[in-house]
Amino acid sequence: GFPGDLAGRRVLVSAGPTREYLDPVRFLSNPSSGRMGYAVAEAARDRGAEVVLVSGPTALPAPAGVHFEAVETAEEMLGALLKHFAWSELLVMSAAVADWRAAHPKGEKEAKSGERQTLELVRTPDILETLAARRRNQVLVGFAMETHAGVARAADKARRKGLAFICLNYPTREGTAFGGSENEVTLVTQAGDAEPLPRMPKRELADRILDRAKPLLPPPTP
Ligand code: C5P
Repeated sequence: GFPGDLAGRRVLVSAGPTREYLDPVRFLSNPSSGRMGYAVAEAARDRGAEVVLVSGPTALPAPAGVHFEAVETAEEMLGALLKHFAWSELLVMSAAVADWRAAHPKGEKEAKSGERQTLELVRTPDILETLAARRRNQVLVGFAMETHAGVARAADKARRKGLAFICLNYPTREGTAFGGSENEVTLVTQAGDAEPLPRMPKRELADRILDRAKPLLPPPTP
């Protein structure tokens, strides 16, 4: 990638975790730092793209020069992405969306009582699948974290979610994925073609992802 090679392209990025509330002060979430998605948003911006970043709660400052929307729950993230999806040409879905939410969230903070408690959970919406069903000619890129059978499972996800490719990472590799400033991923297509990339800073990886998506974008509208 070089400065300006994505001039005017419309890039939608999701980042960070979601929070699924059990009551007003407790939630289910995960340790996503948001750094991968913010790096994609910043890389696209620096290459001239118009960027919308939809982010779950992170410790990172909103990047300058990017339209930024903060959300908390998977439902809110879906709503924010739906607002911008038709506008977008490329969606990079790097958010770590929680898979489950409370079936009956409490409206008040409940005092603890007893020694045991059960919690009924229901699935959150699959955001990528929902957006893929509304896809016109947008290019979709996802992420997958697998502990085993990575490439086969990732290719299956790419097919199910209509993705151009999916960035597969392993939570067990030291210093990658959640939280770190570097990441090591394998790019996997629907056909199961796998291109392992070396470990590199998330910003560099962001540029590699954009390089890979760029030739798939629809021709620019004059
Ligand atoms: O199925 P899995 O959660 O492993 O798929 C990961 C990909 O799907 C990621 O790109 C993630 O952002 C996206 N995802 C989603 N909605 C969900 C769960 C995951 O869009 N509810």
